[in-house]
Amino acid sequence: MAIHEMQVQAEKRLVILGMGGTIAGRATQAGDNVGYVAGQVSVADLVRAVPLLNDLALDVEQVAQLDSKDMDFAAWKALAARVAFHLERPEVAGIVITHGTDTIEETAFFLQSVLRPAKPVVLTCAMRPATALVPDGPQNVSDAVAVARHEDARGVVVVCAGQVHSADDVTKVHTYRVDAFDSGDAGPLGCVEEGQLRQFRPWPEARAAGALVAAVYARVQACSALPRAALLTSHADADGLMVQALLAQVGRDTAHPLRGIVVAGTGNGTVHALLESALLEAQAQGVRVVRCSRCARGRVLAHPGQRLGEVSDLSPVKARIALALELLAG
Ligand code: SIN
Repeated sequence: MAIHEMQVQAEKRLVILGMGGTIAGRATQAGDNVGYVAGQVSVADLVRAVPLLNDLALDVEQVAQLDSKDMDFAAWKALAARVAFHLERPEVAGIVITHGTDTIEETAFFLQSVLRPAKPVVLTCAMRPATALVPDGPQNVSDAVAVARHEDARGVVVVCAGQVHSADDVTKVHTYRVDAFDSGDAGPLGCVEEGQLRQFRPWPEARAAGALVAAVYARVQACSALPRAALLTSHADADGLMVQALLAQVGRDTAHPLRGIVVAGTGNGTVHALLESALLEAQAQGVRVVRCSRCARGRVLAHPGQRLGEVSDLSPVKARIALALELLAG
């Protein structure tokens, strides 16, 4: 894991970490925006392709080279460790991470949950590969650097297509458009206009609960896998078969047993009656069950008397991470 010192300059030093993704993707033909292989171009080369960055003090480091659909806990752990290391360096003002779009919202949420950094950690990405006729990666990297250099910036955010999204709110909402992200009801945190941040909302919460956050980070670094939390969806014609299969696994995989289930319910977190019965059985067997909504907007408003009482306002994929981290905390 070599650190390439790109240029030394006394002012704000930034660290750029590479994780792969379409931003580092390569196609055999320049016009091909879908038939490419993600995670091919080094982060050092991605940075070199943005002339605006030439005069900045940057350290560039390749942490992983993944198609982010294959993101896993080992890569998250390695990334969190490198981010934590660089955040501790007094000369480092902020960190930019190049990442695939497909799970960037999960990585951003994971990092915000385990680090709550008081400096900016800005994830960025691209919807078109580096070899595209008009790649979007260089502008996104340039915008991400502008955000990371902003003097008040803190917390984990995602920058794409000129918009800044907080880690808690951001969701990928489009399969191929370059502005593929949305922050739901909250709206974006800001936008980048010609290299200047225009801010609409406060930065994500920084390390207020210092010791608590440090404990979460230490637990993450000490384990080889997050507690197993499954994600299911309620839908028309659903039944309890998936839950029953998961429960059957409980007794078998003693090293990594099922500890929780997040169910993406319909509307206000409602669950098909047959699936609900199976989830109640899981709950009775000691599995934590959390309901959230499969709707893109709004949040689950709980009401008294519901037998699956735990609800989450987060998107299903983030609710799963939150539950796994809570289970890790014990
Ligand atoms: C990935 O998520 O690594 C591939 C897709 C993308 O970055 O747009």
